[in-house]
Amino acid sequence: MSQAIALAAFLNTHLQNEHREALTLMITDIAESCKKIAIAIDSGALEGNMGSLGSENIQGEVQKALDVISNDIFVEANQRSGYVAGMVSEEISDVIEVAEKHKQHGQYLLLFDPLDGSSNVNVNISVGTIFSILKSSNNHPKLVDFLQPGVSQICAGYAMYGSSTMFVLTTGNGVNGFTLDAESGKFYLTHPDMQIPKDTQEFAVNMSNYRFWQEPVQRYIDECLQGEEGDRGKDFNMRWVASMVAEVHRILIRGGVFLYPMDSKLRNQGGKLRLMYEANPISFIVEQAGGAATTGTKRILEIKPMGIHERVPVMLGSKNEIDRIVKYHALKKR
Ligand code: AHG
Ligand code: MN
Ligand code: MN
Repeated sequence: MSQAIALAAFLNTHLQNEHREALTLMITDIAESCKKIAIAIDSGALEGNMGSLGSENIQGEVQKALDVISNDIFVEANQRSGYVAGMVSEEISDVIEVAEKHKQHGQYLLLFDPLDGSSNVNVNISVGTIFSILKSSNNHPKLVDFLQPGVSQICAGYAMYGSSTMFVLTTGNGVNGFTLDAESGKFYLTHPDMQIPKDTQEFAVNMSNYRFWQEPVQRYIDECLQGEEGDRGKDFNMRWVASMVAEVHRILIRGGVFLYPMDSKLRNQGGKLRLMYEANPISFIVEQAGGAATTGTKRILEIKPMGIHERVPVMLGSKNEIDRIVKYHALKKR
């Protein structure tokens, strides 16, 4: 461990732009929050925190105790830097205001999914936390100040509470992964300059939705399933964890595609995944690692948001596969 670069030392050399001081403090607070969430998850059953609360969040989804605990940890711990002017969380319907005394500098907006994949939490399968940082034009941000396209993000990342706890980060200059050393409580750089292979033979999608998908997605998956005997001439493998963080982490390590496409059940709500704190931060990371992210017809990072909890179709991962999916959508439109 003596040779390994700790997160603090990494930030010190890696951050070189005008956001340097702010990002250093905000990322440090975020990483600390993720450590606290990891501890809450680890001791979940012991603390009686594994169940559902019987309440629903703004999205109409059942809240788990750990959804709310993770949200509260994140909101509390990220007011310290003095740079966060306002927050948006999956679990809270409105903009979260930051107290005046915590806004010495203000100027930045923090958006997050405190616990991604929370349906997995009581079956002991990987979950994560996703975050995105935007610049604010003022110190008292209103909802409209958050509605910036993904290309405006200055930082995005996720923590993954898996077989080890990891913290993966981009500030627009590549993607770097850190592993939590439980003994020292520090994150160390273990995955420098993560790159998604351009080609893959692995896809992740909830196959039970097949009959609700649009034709271009059905075509793509049909061809994967036909394997060596079909047009693609090669066999594919499938994974579905039901935690986007875990799927994306696997894609960053060994390539692959992740699809949560539009389907006829989701049409009224626009898709499954939330643009501002799921699709945008993850798409930023994926592009920074050499991958691509699309709705099928549009680059996710260029979507002009209409609401803080807006949902979108998401298809991302290995570049050549995503290009193929985009092509199938374009052919259908003609
Ligand atoms: P969340 O737990 O934050 O609501 O997000 C869950 C998301 C995503 O992580 C995952 O890929 C997908 O929902 C799982 O959907 P299915 O239950 O349809 O498989
Ligand atoms: Mn989520
Ligand atoms: Mn969540």
